[in-house]
Amino acid sequence: MNVSDSEVVSAILNDVGYIRTNAIDDADIILVNTCSIRENAEIRVRGRLHVFAQLKRKNKNLLIGVLGCMAERLKGELAVQEKTVDLIVGPDAYRLLPQLIEQSQRGNKQIQVFLSADETYEDIIPVRFDNKGVSAFVSIMRGCENRCSYCIVPYVRGIERSRNPESILKEITEVQHKGYKEITLIGQNVDSYRFENINFSQLLSVVAKTFPSMRIRFSTNHPKDLSDDVLHTILQFENIGRHIHLPVQSGSNAMLQLMNRGYTREYYLERIKTIQKAIPDVAISTDIMVGFCNETEENHHETLSLMEEVGYDFSFMFKYNERSGTYAARNLKDNVPEKVKIARLNEVISLQNTLSARSKEKDVGKIYEILIEGMSKKSASEYMGRNSQNKVFVFPSPEKLKAGDRVLVKAERSTPATLMGSLIKKL
Ligand code: 5AD
Ligand code: SF4
Repeated sequence: MNVSDSEVVSAILNDVGYIRTNAIDDADIILVNTCSIRENAEIRVRGRLHVFAQLKRKNKNLLIGVLGCMAERLKGELAVQEKTVDLIVGPDAYRLLPQLIEQSQRGNKQIQVFLSADETYEDIIPVRFDNKGVSAFVSIMRGCENRCSYCIVPYVRGIERSRNPESILKEITEVQHKGYKEITLIGQNVDSYRFENINFSQLLSVVAKTFPSMRIRFSTNHPKDLSDDVLHTILQFENIGRHIHLPVQSGSNAMLQLMNRGYTREYYLERIKTIQKAIPDVAISTDIMVGFCNETEENHHETLSLMEEVGYDFSFMFKYNERSGTYAARNLKDNVPEKVKIARLNEVISLQNTLSARSKEKDVGKIYEILIEGMSKKSASEYMGRNSQNKVFVFPSPEKLKAGDRVLVKAERSTPATLMGSLIKKL
């Protein structure tokens, strides 16, 4: 979401004549787009701000801005703590950036601007950062109203707003003209997309039908909202990726209730069964959070057993980090010791490694369509790409290929993270 937002910021600033540079010493303005989801992300930003402050000593006219969730969360507090910061701008106020920069350059110190309730940036065509030109994010909604008790997102990203489907289709048309081959429709909870009478499954269907040669992905779904209609739409269109990211957080009903997730372990597992039955070749990934308030060893084991039962192909795994202002911070005790959190996280990671390896092993011998993203990081003579399930393939090719080409590849052997393949033919 932040990459996508930075692309919007880049477009807004391009429009008034600024250009993006990769050489930090050349920059007249440095904008840091920030995340508040865990404290670690914020600590890294503080470190960067320290480096920028030193650059400012060399270049008095350098302008430094903090954008995104951390700006929204800390507001004036950040201004007091970080004296070298000139601009503090929340995620829904980027349209104002050109004029804020101008004001700041005129000597107006420490300007702060925050949420607007209806911003979707729908008419802005982002400047894509993916320089391989293969895959692009397309934002379909902003904000979240789920109020999971641990989560800061609803406080910093505001109420849910869905983007006009016409502007979404227009953006994808542009993306396609530029040669991109894959798009990911993104939102904090895509299942609650609604614009007038169009819901997410209808949007997905229109996008897949309108752009038959593009591979369509989407993220993130919410277990309580993912509808059967979405599954039917995936089945109906070959160009929709066979991959669903369905964050579970915990396998324990006690935890799910405290987290205010709106579903039980049984409901979640039922959804997974339905998905696997409807779309047998689907890959399923998740987010897992260990060490939430009052989590017992038994609760933790329920998470491990759920992971086994689902057989996730991939997971993002975290330990709970209290965020001030959330329901959990105000009402619950962050009472699982750090050591225990780390031990549980390690167990979850180790189990996921086993599951990921298993998930790759069962693909060996099969043939998949791969969209090439570039050369392999490890070997300059091999190509890297992904299949519809979002699994990474690495393979050599006697003929020269390029990013964006589609090929058929046979999975020959697997490692926990990658499938090693052989080229069957170029499509
Ligand atoms: N601590 C740790 N992880 C968190 N997440 C959200 N809030 C927190 C928090 N306070 C995780 C959840 C979510 C993912 C994007 O980040 O797993 O799905
Ligand atoms: Fe946070 Fe829950 Fe919204 Fe996801 S659905 S952004 S975890 S509040």
